[in-house]
Amino acid sequence: MSNVEKVSIKPMKIPRIKNGTVIDHITSGNALKVLRILGIPKQNTYTVSVAMNVQGKLGKKDIVKVENRELAREEVDKIALIAPKATINIIRDYQVTEKHKVELPDEFRGIACCQNPTCISNTGEPVQSRFIVLDKEIPRIKCYYCQREPDDISDRII
Ligand SMILES: Nc1ncnc2c1ncn2[C@@H]1O[C@H](COP(=O)(O)OP(=O)(O)OP(=O)(O)O)[C@@H](O)[C@H]1O
Ligand SMILES: [Mg+2]
Ligand SMILES: [Zn+2]
Repeated sequence: MSNVEKVSIKPMKIPRIKNGTVIDHITSGNALKVLRILGIPKQNTYTVSVAMNVQGKLGKKDIVKVENRELAREEVDKIALIAPKATINIIRDYQVTEKHKVELPDEFRGIACCQNPTCISNTGEPVQSRFIVLDKEIPRIKCYYCQREPDDISDRII
């Protein structure tokens, strides 16, 4: 197959990394939200490259490459909330050794907060936020307790 040839001549917008994570197929324009989820630039120890509005096979996308870091489950779930088509590629010794599509669970707790200020999850009770996933593709979520759907999910991510 000519795939090997194609890969070897394919120019990369960002230099290859030896070890780390490539978050690919991020909804165009959302790379900075992904960085915020990863705690960057607050946490300034990681080398990160970002490409935005790159023409991919299926339209424009953003890409984030983080050197020497793998992602926690919770970070991947948060990314799924704002970039539902993203893929997480683990790079080891310059090669893609693992590839996962992000996928929201049917229900999740704790990674976002409810928009309703009088919701039981926001009133100082020992009640952790909890959401039902209505649509994994768009995505759409609603609060388990008060049924409120946030206007903008990315504003709700903790
Ligand atoms: N060593 C590396 N350093 C930096 N980026 C890399 C490295 N290897 C692969 N990538 C990037 O990681 C992503 C996934 O690589 P892969 O070779 O699986 O591409 P692909 O076949 O186009 O994958 P997909 O089908 O998920 O789009 C691509 O954006 C690619 O440019
Ligand atoms: Mg590709
Ligand atoms: Zn609520």
